Amino acid sequence: MSSVATPGPKLELAPYKSLSNEELAARIQKVRDHFGSELLILGHHYQQDEVIEFSDLRGDSLQLSQMAADSRDCRYIIFCGVHFMAETADMLANRPEALEDRKGERVTVVLPDMAAGCSMADMAAIEQVEAAWEDLGEYIDTNDITPVTYINSAASLKAFCGKHGGIVCTSTNAPAVIEWAFKKTSRVLFFPDQHLGRNTALKMGITNDQMPVWDPYAEECGGTSEEAIKNSKVVLWNGHCSVHQMFKAEHVHKFRKDIPDIKILVHPECPQEVNDIADLSGSTGFILKTIQSAEPGSKWAIGTELHMVNRLKKEHPEQEIHFLSPVVCMCATMYRIDLAHLCWSLENLAEGHVVNQVAVDEEVSKWSLIALKRMLEVV
Ligand code: 13P
Ligand code: SF4
Repeated sequence: MSSVATPGPKLELAPYKSLSNEELAARIQKVRDHFGSELLILGHHYQQDEVIEFSDLRGDSLQLSQMAADSRDCRYIIFCGVHFMAETADMLANRPEALEDRKGERVTVVLPDMAAGCSMADMAAIEQVEAAWEDLGEYIDTNDITPVTYINSAASLKAFCGKHGGIVCTSTNAPAVIEWAFKKTSRVLFFPDQHLGRNTALKMGITNDQMPVWDPYAEECGGTSEEAIKNSKVVLWNGHCSVHQMFKAEHVHKFRKDIPDIKILVHPECPQEVNDIADLSGSTGFILKTIQSAEPGSKWAIGTELHMVNRLKKEHPEQEIHFLSPVVCMCATMYRIDLAHLCWSLENLAEGHVVNQVAVDEEVSKWSLIALKRMLEVV
């Protein structure tokens, strides 16, 4: 089916909010049937069940980036995830080689709710990273530092990495990416997630006293010292995920006491105190694969976003699955994507109106792609 006929009226969001999930589901399906293979709905593992049901493909951040990069027939990507993921999809789907294959036709990327951001990504602004780089240059040679940005960051930070010999990583490939960086330089500046940076580097034998934390709000020297910077191997950014920082070592101890043969499986965005004592740590894709391939009857306490853990419980009744924290740890921004926003953005698309398009500036995209492609070559 071809895309869009003559544009109809632009549809307002408000009326969609009072529709039942059944009605929304039926209408979403109608638009999917209309567009066929021209439309690709991507869903991150943290999305709510109702939304995941409509995802053509679901995955972790790396898998979703690769899916966007590989999209051939599609002309529209509806990204059920958060803003940095949609930006990455826009850049990869519209990279020069892909555009050439499609004879210049761009893929339009839509984020159903623009308020679906990532609080961790917001902890590093490009101006702060540029200022930190300049400040670091007062103490050490910045030609000997590789900037590494977690994919959970704005495109401008990825572009910074592209310009300065740096690279992007995800929670899946952080060890390989940091190893790559150390082949080039003797130091790394890792942003925005201090926990992923620290947990990964610790496993490579780098010690905490070689990893000062740079606070962009500190008056001087990122709140650390000249000596600490000079002794550093990895300079960590003072950022974190507000969801994963809620998992504590005491939660692990409690489960081990109550259920002696339980295994603790966490995401590496959890703080070091949790990551160090967990049995296994890895990306959302790794967590899914671990549960899918576990012996029936295995017992797990999982430290990652609540919607994903609840879905694992539902899809794997043969396992005993617990949520690691006694309190609710959910990603409120991911949760902003609901059936009402999905249906609203899709029906507008069918009417010839693109709402909530995520399109990265050309210059930013050009430099970001350098850092993204380096990553895709490493993995
Ligand atoms: P994954 O790459 O493991 O899917 O993680 C993305 C994320 O935002 C976790 O908080
Ligand atoms: Fe960002 Fe944390 Fe939400 Fe992941 S779970 S999208 S890091 S706020």
